[in-house]
Amino acid sequence: MSRLATLEIDGKKYKFPLVQGTENEIAIDIKTLRAVTGGVTTIDPGYKNTGSCESAITFLDGEKGILSYRGYAIEDLAEKADFLEVVFLLIFEELPNQEQLDKFHSDIKAQSLVDEDVRKIIDAFPKSAHPMGVLSSLTSALTAFNPSSVNVDSEDAMYNAIVRILGKFPVLVAWTLRKKQGLPLDYGDNSLGYIENILKMMFHKPNEEYVQNQVMIDALNKLLILHADHEQNCSTSTVRIVGSSHAGLFASISAGISALWGPLHGGANQAVLEMLEAIKEDGGDTKKYMAKAKDKEDPFRLMGFGHRVYKNFDPRAKIIKAAADEVLEDLGVEDPILDIAKGLEQEALNDEYFVSRKLYPNVDFYSGIIYRAMDIPTEMFTVMFALGRLPGWIAQWKEMRLRKEPIGRPRQLYIGETHREFKTIKNR
Ligand code: CMC
Repeated sequence: MSRLATLEIDGKKYKFPLVQGTENEIAIDIKTLRAVTGGVTTIDPGYKNTGSCESAITFLDGEKGILSYRGYAIEDLAEKADFLEVVFLLIFEELPNQEQLDKFHSDIKAQSLVDEDVRKIIDAFPKSAHPMGVLSSLTSALTAFNPSSVNVDSEDAMYNAIVRILGKFPVLVAWTLRKKQGLPLDYGDNSLGYIENILKMMFHKPNEEYVQNQVMIDALNKLLILHADHEQNCSTSTVRIVGSSHAGLFASISAGISALWGPLHGGANQAVLEMLEAIKEDGGDTKKYMAKAKDKEDPFRLMGFGHRVYKNFDPRAKIIKAAADEVLEDLGVEDPILDIAKGLEQEALNDEYFVSRKLYPNVDFYSGIIYRAMDIPTEMFTVMFALGRLPGWIAQWKEMRLRKEPIGRPRQLYIGETHREFKTIKNR
């Protein structure tokens, strides 16, 4: 027998079905709420209690610290999978066999050129421009150069749009870095693996051979997998809502990049590094910054701590912390900032303020330390997050389109002035 929730308003009772997910989560289905109650709506700022969709892509249990993509534990994927396999898994629901993976990779490679005119756009940006703004603009500009990717009315058209963005996005990522560093904007090498090619595109110098480093390849592979999807977070919800107007994949992803940029979301990785640097410059007094983070009069927050959903360790942070130790050792990098980060973590884990609010390190707390050891500039950290999150955004957009979800359009409770008589300007 189906279960029901009862809502009582002014003595009148309304029944709504309870729906259960495959991991036994329960939701109240209020699709008919306004119709049956004559216009009553719900208020939920920040959507803390609102499920915006049903999704079969990523599951996370914030209380237990569990994260899985399509049923596969993040720990297994981060340890054993290649990023491109995870991309395929997220978008096409199953892990690929070798033949499927080879075809997918070759379709992506066939799309890895960007129209030469895009260089003119990037040339017009000042070198000081933040790479996230540049990346968002260039991704949006791709729409103009690939108009057939906008109206995707068949699965073929959808597939073509997907491999196009997967082919061209890493080139744009590399170009934002190269522009900043004054290096020529050129292409990678299609004989390489997806990750190897990204590294070469980012780092190769025109006058010397680029030598691949297995530690860097493994580190980037792991970081991109850990960032690949995280269900209905701010940027993913943005991608779904923009896509719900049928604006097209590239425009939706461009909007997602803008959402990711903010320091409360993906921009936290840059903010963490800047915070750790500031603490170091200030003499390394972690206690002083802990006190600032707890002071309600002080806007300072401990960046890289806390999460809307995780009320336990972020499982990605655990993996990244272990990876940070390994990568720094393997690359022979000693970074005093790692010690400051570990010190802050220890203090927070034993501090009543953080313990009672269930504030633990999140994915961004240690990732920047690895990026820094890989010689990636701080302003590029959130771009690296976007590179990892791309397949998640694509998978969520595809799911939304295939499920024929309605245009996203929340309601509100109006609290402004009621009717006022208009006065012409000379009478005001
Ligand atoms: N430092 C100090 N206090 C904090 C922090 C922090 N980093 N995070 C939350 N709090 C406090 C907050 O002041 C509030 O206290 P009180 O109950 O006394 O008012 C309580 O903890 C609950 O915080 P909230 O802001 O209501 O929680 P939220 O779910 O709205 O925000 C968050 C989640 C991630 C935006 C927030 O924890 C934060 O700003 N963290 C720092 C930024 C950060 O690291 N962001 C990356 C998130 S993970 C990567 C991603 O997916 O984007």
